[in-house]
Amino acid sequence: MTDARQGLTGLLDTEAIRKDFPILDRTVHDGKKILYLDSAATSQKPRQVLDALNTYYERHNANVHRGVYTIAEEATALYEGARDKVAAFINAPSRDEVIFTKNASESLNLVANMLGWADEPYRVDRDTEIVTTEMEHHSNIVPWQLLSQRTGAKLKWFGITDDGRLDLSNIDEIITEKTKIVSFTLVSNILGTVNPVEQIIRRAQQVGALVCIDASQAAPHMVLDVQALQADFVAFTGHKMVGPTGIGVLWGRQELLEDLPPFLGGGEMIETVSMHSSTYAPAPHKFEAGTPPIAQAVGLGAAVDYLSSIGMEKIHQHEKAITEYAVKRLLEVPDLRIIGPATAEDRGATISFTLGDIHPHDVGQVLDEMGICVRVGHHCARPVCLRYGIPATTRASFYLYSTPSEVDALVDGLEHVRNFFG
Ligand code: ALA
Repeated sequence: MTDARQGLTGLLDTEAIRKDFPILDRTVHDGKKILYLDSAATSQKPRQVLDALNTYYERHNANVHRGVYTIAEEATALYEGARDKVAAFINAPSRDEVIFTKNASESLNLVANMLGWADEPYRVDRDTEIVTTEMEHHSNIVPWQLLSQRTGAKLKWFGITDDGRLDLSNIDEIITEKTKIVSFTLVSNILGTVNPVEQIIRRAQQVGALVCIDASQAAPHMVLDVQALQADFVAFTGHKMVGPTGIGVLWGRQELLEDLPPFLGGGEMIETVSMHSSTYAPAPHKFEAGTPPIAQAVGLGAAVDYLSSIGMEKIHQHEKAITEYAVKRLLEVPDLRIIGPATAEDRGATISFTLGDIHPHDVGQVLDEMGICVRVGHHCARPVCLRYGIPATTRASFYLYSTPSEVDALVDGLEHVRNFFG
């Protein structure tokens, strides 16, 4: 316990919340209770979501949009009901703007491929430019590299400052009249930085470029209002927001979804098919070829219900308090360097750090022996590690079930790691 805990306000009733997450009672290594600090990689799942998945399979399982029998209609209603819930959760103007994918990577690849096959005015070619940032997860870099290689479009990016913010000092040179799309993360999965969306969108709008936002690390943690954001596309994933794996979301503006071509072809995305040609169903079905992730969508619907019942603003306030506390406490550990903003301002609940010369994999392994789960490595954001001249980081990430005591246990664990390695 420490003075740093004084003034901690806005915390959720984690004692009650943690009862919803059976896995948090799990023990490892001879009875050590797990301390889960890796929610940026994937969140844990409440019983409400597990029950929704079970009930779906036990009572309603059938394929959607096809059957005329009762349980097929129930499955369709549950799947489409999940779309309604997600649309409301992100304040989408229309449920038809919500496309289900398998994860955020697929959502971002879908945008890149829609543009890759598009005609004017969306066409990406050698006379145009694509903009991303050095701070992205690989899922928001590689699809744009592929698009650039295929079309000859130039790939440009914003760099990162020493303190882990986007360097927008050259914004007018990076986003130009040639820019077709600007794609960036709202919250960095490695640095925790919350990016200045408005400034970037304002510039993109000035030059008529589309904007795609990777909200994978934002949707679980804050109010996500796609109308307020004013982007053209927003991608996120279910498993980081207490939902199951295998379900992602792409929200896109309706007129774009009407104009842009599909990427994957197959069942359910068509209006009519002959051996010579096909016409397509309206969005969102145009972009959902084949049997969709039905149970996973139902699980995501339950996850959205769960988060909404607590309140995204309250979850955000809780994480802000925990983050402020964690930054303060981590900075007390000798030789610990936070990679990213070393403040609680404009940052999310994900904190990467190095500990002297101790390799993050060694840090992670010793922490695991105490039951502490953190992620180590480059976190699928290798350009960030290159930028700071480090091979990897240790990353602790917090969520609605995280407590100040867990922060204390992490700090104690890191002291143990330092002693262990002398
Ligand atoms: N994207 C996940 C992470 O950052 C896997 O850990």
